Parts: sequence; C-alpha cells; structure tokens
Amino acid sequence: EKAQIGVTGLAVMGRNLARNFARHGHTVALHNRSYGRTKELVEEFGHEGKFIPSESAADFVASLERPRRVVIMVKAGGPTDAVIDEFAPLLEPGDMLIDAGNAHYLDTRRREAALKEKGLHFVGAGVSGGEEGALHGPSIMPGGPKESYDALGPLLEDIAAKVDGEPCCVHVGPDGAGHFVKMVHNGIEYADMQLIAEAYDLLRQVGGSSPAEIAGIFQGWNEGRLGSYLIEITAEVLKQVDASTGKPFVDIVLDQAEQKGTGRWTVQAALDLGVPVSGIAESVFARALSGGADVRKAAADAALPGPSPENKHAGDLQADVEQALFASKIVAYAQGFQQIQAASKEYGWAIDPGAMAKIWRAGCIIRAKFLDFIKQAYDKQPELATLLVDEYFLDAVSGAQDAWRRVVATAAQQGIPAPGFASALAYYDGLRAKRLPAALIQGQRDFFGAHTYHRIDKPGSFHTLWAAEGRPEVDA
Ligand code: 6PG
Repeated sequence: EKAQIGVTGLAVMGRNLARNFARHGHTVALHNRSYGRTKELVEEFGHEGKFIPSESAADFVASLERPRRVVIMVKAGGPTDAVIDEFAPLLEPGDMLIDAGNAHYLDTRRREAALKEKGLHFVGAGVSGGEEGALHGPSIMPGGPKESYDALGPLLEDIAAKVDGEPCCVHVGPDGAGHFVKMVHNGIEYADMQLIAEAYDLLRQVGGSSPAEIAGIFQGWNEGRLGSYLIEITAEVLKQVDASTGKPFVDIVLDQAEQKGTGRWTVQAALDLGVPVSGIAESVFARALSGGADVRKAAADAALPGPSPENKHAGDLQADVEQALFASKIVAYAQGFQQIQAASKEYGWAIDPGAMAKIWRAGCIIRAKFLDFIKQAYDKQPELATLLVDEYFLDAVSGAQDAWRRVVATAAQQGIPAPGFASALAYYDGLRAKRLPAALIQGQRDFFGAHTYHRIDKPGSFHTLWAAEGRPEVDA
C-alpha cells in the first residue's frame, strides 16, 4: 500500500501534522534529515495510524501514491530551499510540494514559479495553531495552483479545525496568497497581543489590580465579545505563580519581547503596498523597544522624568479598558484585512476576505468570537473599504469611543506607554477627519521641491512660484 501524503521535517510541528493525518485514516509517509526522529515517531505514535517510514528521500518518494503530496515542515529560508532542491529532481509532473512553514510570500512566489517550469505544483500553505493545533486541528491557509487544491484540499480539510462541521481551510488564492494571509494573521496576532498587554498594564498600574485579579477580569471578558484564544491564554499566564520564588510568573520574566520575523514582514509588505497598518507596526516597534536593553538602560540612568502629579482615571477603569481594547482590536483587524485586500489586488489573487475570517474562527492563534461578524461583514459586501464602516463595527466603535479616549488620555497623563491604543485611536480619528493637515504637507513639498499639488476646486497639477512677488500659481 502506498501513502496518500508524506511529511518531511519531523520536528514537533511536522510530527504533529503527520500524526493528525494518520489519525484521520490516511497512510502517511515519513522522512527526516536524520532518521532518528522518524524512528522515534513510529515507536511512540505508530499505534495511532498507518505510517511508512523511509530513511532516504528516494524511498520516501517511492512510497507515495501519485500525484505525490509532500508536506515540507522545516525552517523558513535556506533549509526550505535545500529540501526543495533535494526533492524536486525525484518528483514527476503533477506532484505537489507543500511548504507548511512560515515562509515569506515572495519566496513562495519565486519557488512556485521555478517549480511550475518542471511541471510540479508548489503550494505555500500557512498553518496556524502551534503544536496543539497541528495535532488536533489547525487553521490552514493554502495558496498555490487551484488544480492542486482539488487533489490536496480534501486531505487538508480533514485535519483542519472545524466550526459547526465546516473546515478552517480554504484555497486562499494562487502562488504566495496563502503565505501572505498567514503572514498578516501573524501581524494581527502581534497587534492583538500588544493590545492585551497594554490593557493588563493599565489595569495593574492605574487600577492597582494584581496579576491574579487581572486574570479574573480577562476570564470575565472572555465570556463576552472579546472572547478569544489570546484572552483565554493571557488569563492563564497571569494566574501562573513561579514555583521557585512564589511570585507571579509575569514578574519574574525578563520584559524583552522576542520575535521570529513575521510581524516585521507584515509591516515591510504594508509599507510597500502603502497600507497604514499602524497597529501592527506599533506592536512590532513595541517589541523592539522592549528589547533595546542598552537604550532602556541609558534612559533609566538618565532618570527620564515622568508626569506629576498623578491623575486619577475619570471613569470606570475596567469597563473603559474593555471598550478601548475592543475598539483597538477592531482597528487592528480592519487594517490587516485592508492589507490582504490591497495585496490581493496587487497580485491578482482574488482573495475572499470573508473566507479568511471564516477559517480563522478556530484552530489558529487569533481565533476569536468576533470573527463571525467580520465574516458577515465581508459576506454582505466583499469590497468593503474598511470594516469600520460595517454596521456592527461602526456601532461597537461609536459605543466605545468615549471610554477609548479616556483610556488613552489616562495613559498619556500617567506616563504609561499605550502605543497600540493610542495609534488605533489616531487611525480612527484620521479616517474620520473631514480635512487632514496633509494639505499643508503638500504645500511644504511644493515649496521646497516643486512637487506640485492638486486643488479642491479645479482639476490639474499646480505649482506656486513661492519666492516670486505675489506668489502666483502656475499650471504644472
Ligand atoms: C501560529 C503562530 C506561529 C508562531 C508565531 C510566533 O499561527 O501558530 O503565529 O506561526 O508561533 O509566528 O511568532 P513570534 O516568535 O514572531 O512571536
């Protein structure tokens, strides 16, 4: 008997994906650079299903039914290219290589184009949900050629998370679309985490609540409209007590956030597309600021002064922070979805934004109750310019705005950094503004660089002779 699918790269993510396929009744071919991991998997989990372990790449390929489906689960970048180079010569036209790692979508585009010339299908698939998700049901965002989805989709849908029996897996779009959407998922993940961290910081520093008390507040919020995996696990982290010191876990961890790069990629891509994902950018920069130990030490040594005297929050802090968190979260998602729509247009991917919200409802790290409303918003209007104008979100944000402003004001007055809340509010006010000071910037550009400007009252490009007497305006 031959295997329906193969997995190469059997570190924990690859191993759990392989087990997930096997648990769903598929025969799974196994391969790893060193055979030890392969052997270990079969010894420990062989009873879970049917596995065909191979030591060599050639045997692995030979153990697969055609068209072959080979899932690659290795580190992004060089290691992925190395595995592709190893397998491509062994495969035949129509076979599929599926990169399930967090690859950069431009790498995926490059690889897909190169393999297409050999008649091979390359599918960049975003997989979210960590180790647990890989084993019990991740959210899967496959890109690549549509034809490959016909042969591959059913297997991926089998192992994906389900909502009311519907799989959290859909063909996102051609070439790099799947990895692009996964990248933005991670960017939103960064923003969500930053906003939750700011909420915690305010409840602790302004409200004086302990980590355990804040865990309770988050558990309460998790029952409401903020219900989400990240809120749920935040409560767990805040409840945790360090065994060796008896202190709250959150107090014994070095306050320098690390990152593997997908948040940064999201912002880099957004800059190129010209989409203002300010919430995601602030969250990436907040991590960078936290990690800038030298600069923070210099600031501490100089004792940069804070505000005085201390102001009290002019409202119900807990309720206000909940509102600020929800409104800022809406902005972060609105920005992320706008970026997906912009890229879809730029690359001709025809991504259905409602379908993305749908497959993020379970399995992935940013799964949240309110994705149902995002799905509904885009189902109603796939071309929606921004989620903020959809009825549900418009209501939510207008209901939140007074509290949101109080929270940002309190943070500023008390000297507590809340870049996520503040930038989300600035974005909202920016969108709302009838006139933006961008008109002045156009004037400055025209003054020093003769860059020209457009008028509100007649068409064409204009340039003002700034230095001349009377400063006449000329058609540019
Ligand atoms: C997921 C996660 C996963 C990974 C993060 C971690 O969707 O399952 O996003 O892909 O754990 O990328 O990101 P950082 O290390 O950059 O925080």
